Amino acid sequence: MMNALTLLTLLLPTVLGWDYTVELTVDRSTKYQVVDGWGCSEAFQRATDVLGRYGLSPQNQSYVLDLLFDVEKGAGFTILRNGIGSSNSSKGNLMNSIEPYAPAGPNATPNYTWDHYSSGQFPLSQDARARGLPYIYADAWSAPGFMKTNDDENNGGYLCGVEGTHCSTGDWKQAYANYLIQFWKYWNDAGVPITHLGFLNEPSFAPDYASMQSNGTQAADFIRVLGKTIQKENIDVEIVCCDDYGWEQQEALMAGLAAPDENGNSGESYLSVISGHGYASPPDFQLSTSLRVWETEWADLTGDYTPYEFWNHSGPGEGLTWASRIQVARL
Ligand SMILES: *[C@@H]1O[C@H](CO)[C@@H](O)[C@H](O)[C@H]1NC(C)=O
Ligand SMILES: *[C@@H]1O[C@H](CO)[C@@H](O)[C@H](O)[C@H]1NC(C)=O
Ligand SMILES: *[C@@H]1O[C@H](CO)[C@@H](O)[C@H](O)[C@H]1NC(C)=O
Ligand SMILES: *[C@@H]1O[C@H](CO)[C@@H](O)[C@H](O)[C@H]1NC(C)=O
Ligand SMILES: *[C@@H]1O[C@H](CO)[C@@H](O)[C@H](O)[C@H]1NC(C)=O
Repeated sequence: MMNALTLLTLLLPTVLGWDYTVELTVDRSTKYQVVDGWGCSEAFQRATDVLGRYGLSPQNQSYVLDLLFDVEKGAGFTILRNGIGSSNSSKGNLMNSIEPYAPAGPNATPNYTWDHYSSGQFPLSQDARARGLPYIYADAWSAPGFMKTNDDENNGGYLCGVEGTHCSTGDWKQAYANYLIQFWKYWNDAGVPITHLGFLNEPSFAPDYASMQSNGTQAADFIRVLGKTIQKENIDVEIVCCDDYGWEQQEALMAGLAAPDENGNSGESYLSVISGHGYASPPDFQLSTSLRVWETEWADLTGDYTPYEFWNHSGPGEGLTWASRIQVARL
């Protein structure tokens, strides 16, 4: 059965004014790539929108969750990308941090706090898991401001302690690793395991919202600390890097990730997944890695949604465009 040839017949009626039948032959015994799944994100308070911030009724909340995560009634998404908040409040679209107050220094006891809410993403993740969601990718757009060269969660800046940084407050690499693991523990202990963990978002970009810069060497500096801490604590989570804002930008990080340190350990050796976005340059080639590759964010920013048709003429959301990218970039 697995090796049987499957014949699919597609009928494209009257597209060009005449009936046109295409026969495709698919040999299911030949496998080209592994696809981990399909996903979405409800970061930056989109989860609270779904959970009724603007008055969506309980029935319609459930309907939206079904459309996203139920395999029978909806898309059956398998990956949910959540934001690990770095803000000191959850006003507007901010995602609040588990460490809103700076400790005395990187080695002082941190003042962690958790609200079992994570800007709506925790209850939404519970609802998604109840519908079968297997993978939760928790990703930080930035470390808390006090861990960074610019003392600000916004406007880029670097994690204090990576190559090329000199912070009067010291080296925050271990503190940031501990902080991410604490976030994982809060969720895990509350019954929602985070399967994938990231610590950067678009590190070649420094916008005026939560953001943190990094090149490949600097990312690897931190990954070694995070990877060793995860191993020491025997935590079951895969590390993902680096969600850069275009494929070319992510490729530019790969050499630094692959470079061995004096003990022969590359940053990449601690990673399970390489991730990138499509905004600045689309996923139209294979990244230089043997790891699995995820396209973790991209939105159609064309802007005019009516009567704009997202699938029209190789547009950003068009299915065949995506099928081609998935194959070419091995997503
Ligand atoms: C759900 O949303 C639809 C579309 O906006 C609306 O027509 C319907 O009244 C809503 N149902 C409930 C129970 O709120
Ligand atoms: C909270 O963060 C914002 C933005 O980083 C900052 O301007 C503000 O001073 C902070 N508030 C407190 C109480 O730390
Ligand atoms: C610790 O955090 C809590 C709120 O999360 C805050 O009320 C308290 O003032 C903080 N303590 C210190 C010493 O910063
Ligand atoms: C990353 O930046 C640091 C600090 O400027 C520099 O020493 C290092 O060579 C850079 N790495 C790459 C791969 O460009
Ligand atoms: C479809 O694409 C064509 C060519 O790109 C464009 O001229 C047209 O306005 C698009 N139509 C819609 C409904 O988006």
